[in-house]
Amino acid sequence: MKMKVGRLHLLYIALILLLCSCGKNERRFTVGVSQCSEDIWRDKLNDELVMGTYQYENIDLKFASANDNDKLQKEQIKKFVDEGVDLLIVSPNQVHTVSSAIDEAYDKGIPVILFDRKTDSEKYTAFIGADNFEAGRAIGEFVVQQLNGNGQIAEIAGLEGSSPAIERHKGFMDAISKHPGISIVNRKSADWLKERGQVMMDSILNKTPDIDLIFAQNDRMAIGALQAAEKRGIRNIQYVGIDALPVPGGGLENVRDGHLAASYIYPTRGDLVMQLAANILENKPFERDNYLKGALVTKNNAPVLLLQNEELNKERGRLASLHGKVDNYLAQYNHQKVYLVLSGIITFLLIGIVVYIYRTIVMKRQMEEEATNAKLQFFTNISHELRTPLTLIADPIDNIIRDDNLNKQQRNMLQIVSRNVNVLTRLVNEILDFRKMQDKKMKLTLSDFELTGYMQQWLNVFEASAERKKIKIELNAPENISVRADIYKVERICYNLLSNALKYTNEGGRIVFAAKKVGDKVEISVADTGKGIPRNETQHIFDRFYQVKGGSKGGTGIGLAIVKAFSELQGGKARVESEEGKGANFIITLPQTVAGDNIVDVQEAYTLNEKAIEDNAATNISTEIMTDKITTTDKGEKPSLLVIDDNADIRAYVMTLLGDKYNILQAADGNEGLKKAIREVPDIIVCDVMMPVMDGLEFCQRVKNDALTSHIPVILLTAKTLEEHRAAGYEFGADAYLTKPFNGDVLKARVKNLLDNRKLMKIAFGSDASQQEETTAPKSAESQFVDKFRKVIQDNLGNSDLNVDRISADMGISRAQLYRKIKSLTGTSPVDIIREARLKRADRLLETTDKSISEIAYEVGFSSPSYFTKCYREHFGRTPNEKNPRQ
Ligand code: FRU
Repeated sequence: MKMKVGRLHLLYIALILLLCSCGKNERRFTVGVSQCSEDIWRDKLNDELVMGTYQYENIDLKFASANDNDKLQKEQIKKFVDEGVDLLIVSPNQVHTVSSAIDEAYDKGIPVILFDRKTDSEKYTAFIGADNFEAGRAIGEFVVQQLNGNGQIAEIAGLEGSSPAIERHKGFMDAISKHPGISIVNRKSADWLKERGQVMMDSILNKTPDIDLIFAQNDRMAIGALQAAEKRGIRNIQYVGIDALPVPGGGLENVRDGHLAASYIYPTRGDLVMQLAANILENKPFERDNYLKGALVTKNNAPVLLLQNEELNKERGRLASLHGKVDNYLAQYNHQKVYLVLSGIITFLLIGIVVYIYRTIVMKRQMEEEATNAKLQFFTNISHELRTPLTLIADPIDNIIRDDNLNKQQRNMLQIVSRNVNVLTRLVNEILDFRKMQDKKMKLTLSDFELTGYMQQWLNVFEASAERKKIKIELNAPENISVRADIYKVERICYNLLSNALKYTNEGGRIVFAAKKVGDKVEISVADTGKGIPRNETQHIFDRFYQVKGGSKGGTGIGLAIVKAFSELQGGKARVESEEGKGANFIITLPQTVAGDNIVDVQEAYTLNEKAIEDNAATNISTEIMTDKITTTDKGEKPSLLVIDDNADIRAYVMTLLGDKYNILQAADGNEGLKKAIREVPDIIVCDVMMPVMDGLEFCQRVKNDALTSHIPVILLTAKTLEEHRAAGYEFGADAYLTKPFNGDVLKARVKNLLDNRKLMKIAFGSDASQQEETTAPKSAESQFVDKFRKVIQDNLGNSDLNVDRISADMGISRAQLYRKIKSLTGTSPVDIIREARLKRADRLLETTDKSISEIAYEVGFSSPSYFTKCYREHFGRTPNEKNPRQ
């Protein structure tokens, strides 16, 4: 879980980074604009600065206005520095007063642009503004012209100590000083303000009423002076100013309207100020001192200039609206980008959550499935384990019950044991059946039968225990319901339902076992008066291993699952109707004729079903086979049987079953068994599959691959019922397969059958032999062995020393091994075969040569002619003389 949270965090961080990376990488700058005053000229400049940022979108502006207050301006500059602005644009109120604050900022490395006004310090990065001297000079020249070189002038100056006021005065004086007819008769300072201009005009008129012209250092003060004079009714004075602002009420309009005789365009050019700032910030080349061009405005050019300005304003308006739109689009775009990224994150998270939930569900299901399978495997294993001891109980008991010496009471008791063993066997089989069903290996064996009669029989089984529990159990079915179904499975369904009902019905309760026809279907039901099943549990009641909460009274939890599976296997359905406290009614609906082509009679159906589990073929074995027809290897000598099983009880049981007719050899595992098989060469082997050290399959394979033991029939004995194990057994060369718990009679029959049916080989000598040698077909291990044996004999026929010892030595095996192998393969002992070979050779010599009987007897290896004659007579039924009458 921790891992998952960690992964989600990582995902989150990655997405945030992604989101951030969507923005621009360009560095942003903050520029502080420190204005000395607030008026229409500065408003225009500020607007132009803002518009300038449209071009430099990485620049943010901060404004401060000192309202003509030096102290305040210094404070505002310091504040900008503290805030960490990247550049300062300052229009210093006066030359000396704010220099220290500007120097400080400059010393801290902040670039400083002085605009419009100057300081007395060299600590600035660049200056931009109009040439105030030139402005004063141009206006001076106009005045000279206007007054025709004669007249009295009064000057209303801007703020004393501010650089424009100083320079404009100088420029003006420069122009008029060359004209002695013109004199400045009064001079006042009005701090650049209109109201102060009015006041100063009053004072001028009071002292020097004969004035021809007023030179105000800006238009606002000029208009103030005009208004003061008009108030007094004085209209013969001319006024000139500076600024010529193209705004309503500005200098341009006043010149056009004749209120001012002239003005001088004192440009604001905020766009150029921004350009300079951007160049400095981006380390681009720039000029340190930048003087903007101005121009004289008179009545002649004022209207044109206003017109131009009007157009310019329109353009500006369009630009502003365009920019507004672009801003809008940008904002929308940014929103959309954020929405996109956000919806990406949400989608991503949703997918993650869905995948996580899906995986959790799948894993949970897998775990449940695994747990269920493990449970089933456990039951299956236990069942396999139980079958061996069950065999060891059931079979001996069946044998003992048949004993006539038992008294009635003993027989009754044994019958109880036998019945209970059967119940246990049925339970075990039920689990194995279920496993089979799970593996989809369950098949249908159908028969036609009358249902009600069988239902009565099945009911009888439960009557005794119902009686003990004082439960009334009754059958409710019409007399004749003929069906075609798998009777074994229908019986199992009914048994399970009845035993279930008995388990959950209290004393004094009632169980009704019913059947009826419904259309082409048959309904079988078992209703009880037990405690019933809670509504929410009815849907799970047929699930394997499901047991009603608090209702468990033991059981495997697969009984009802089998009911459902067996019903569905036959094309039917299983359901339950129940109310808590009011009992339950289990209803099975089956087709009256179950579909399928494997149709047998009832008895066979039972047999086949049983066989499918137990390999119980007892009923198929004719009693004839069971009679004493067991092959003996010699007169009185019993065939040998090697039983290999790690369970000593099984070995002992086999001994009990077969000990009277076979010599039983025993081994506890495959390895020991193999040694015994090679040493003793038994006639038949019965071997368990699952054993320590070497299992039955490997044992079987090795026995079949050894020339000495390859002929020995092997019966594999195992608790496994699964087909693949059976197939594997045959693949490894097994001759038969018996499933535990096996029936003793079946084992006896199988052993006998295999021994009876083994094909004995004939060893041919003489002309027969030459025919045999010509055969080119691949030879089995057995015939190779026999060939070798025959050849040794033939090569040594003339040798009277030829005996079994000699041959076994030649063949690299022991005398006993040779004896047992040859005896098993041919049914005859090696000695007899050697003798027969000699006699046949002798017979041919008698026929084809003139040799005497004695000569021939010696030649074929008989040490005495009389013994030869005896043997010859025994074998051919005549004497050698009769064969060769010349003797
Ligand atoms: C604006 C203003 C203008 C003048 C300039 C001189 O504040 O008074 O009218 O031309 O300043 O700095």
